[in-house]
Amino acid sequence: MQVPLLDLKAQYATIRNEILAAVSEVLESQLCIGGPKVSQLEEKIAALSDCRYAVGTSSGTDAILNSLMSLDIGPGDEVITTSFTFFATVGCIVRVGARPVFVDIDPMTFNINPELTESVVTPKTKAIMPVHLFGQMADMDPIMEIAHKYNLAVIEDAAQSITSTYKDKKAGSIGTVGCFSFFPSKNLGGAGDGGMVVTNDEQLYNRMKIVRNHGANPKYYHKYVGGNFRLDAVQAAVLLVKLPHLDEWSEARRRNAAFYNEKFAGTVVKTPYIRPDCISTYNQYVIRVPKRDQLFAYLKEKGIGCEIYYPHPMHLQECFKYLGYKKGCFPETEKAAREVLAIPIYPELTDEMKDYVAETVMSFLPSLN
Ligand SMILES: Cc1ncc(COP(=O)(O)O)c(C=O)c1O
Repeated sequence: MQVPLLDLKAQYATIRNEILAAVSEVLESQLCIGGPKVSQLEEKIAALSDCRYAVGTSSGTDAILNSLMSLDIGPGDEVITTSFTFFATVGCIVRVGARPVFVDIDPMTFNINPELTESVVTPKTKAIMPVHLFGQMADMDPIMEIAHKYNLAVIEDAAQSITSTYKDKKAGSIGTVGCFSFFPSKNLGGAGDGGMVVTNDEQLYNRMKIVRNHGANPKYYHKYVGGNFRLDAVQAAVLLVKLPHLDEWSEARRRNAAFYNEKFAGTVVKTPYIRPDCISTYNQYVIRVPKRDQLFAYLKEKGIGCEIYYPHPMHLQECFKYLGYKKGCFPETEKAAREVLAIPIYPELTDEMKDYVAETVMSFLPSLN
């Protein structure tokens, strides 16, 4: 049996006609940039995230970049974040000229450890950027407390966690601004790149709308230096078709997670820990195992898609060498990078597929003795 890590064709097959009709509507209108589809999507994502405002962007990366630029973060500033994340989180901080300052993770959740955060605040700190990894939100209360104490912005990198909750609050609604990605492998994924920022801050919202369009306001008069961070209407049309299915898809991911949790209970496989005050949307189901690389090879050989998110932490990346971090600086991050493995969790997995994945993982375990 073959079980891919993600099967986007299986999802597409269920909504094909609606997607084709929606894309065709945009093409017939030839309103390809901005327009009603983008505005509709912005309204719906803002409401879904319990935020007043949303600005569609060309990717999750550009959502983060727009946030940083609109908050006037730049050279001389520091932004506190996690090293256990996708490159975009940190890449954007560096691209605006600011300095990323890393904090180790909570080994239970893989998210930034708030207890270690306050000690790295300096007079140069401008913002904290927690990342809600794999579908679970970071521990936001203590982060917000630190932010209030030192007057810092909080940029939630919620690229992997649209509609996830922490203490009944939605991802993106707690910080100054929240950033989503619609990369195709995300829970709400487009037919290409896309992203969105959400906020309750009207001033910031107005600025982000201008910065998205080269900082022009009015046209050809540039109030700020911005970029081309616009969301395509075709992407918005596809996302509008998918949006009503998002909750049922997340529910299916949670059911699949519960199935694996039960199968792996009492074994050496560490299943994801979800805080009792969080609801995860399981963008990834990430287990921890000893001899991870052998299990990775074994699953691949058995036709099971799996992936390591992330094998090489940001503080050890060649391009960030100048920051001066060394191996050993963030032990929990480095340990996670050695032990994590994402296995298939996508909503369309059949019972047979889930069984096959679980049984195959289990059949590897005796080799650990
Ligand atoms: C944690 C995190 N931040 C940022 C991004 C960037 O999003 P995008 O790929 O849409 O630019 C991603 C997505 O890949 C992500 O997983």
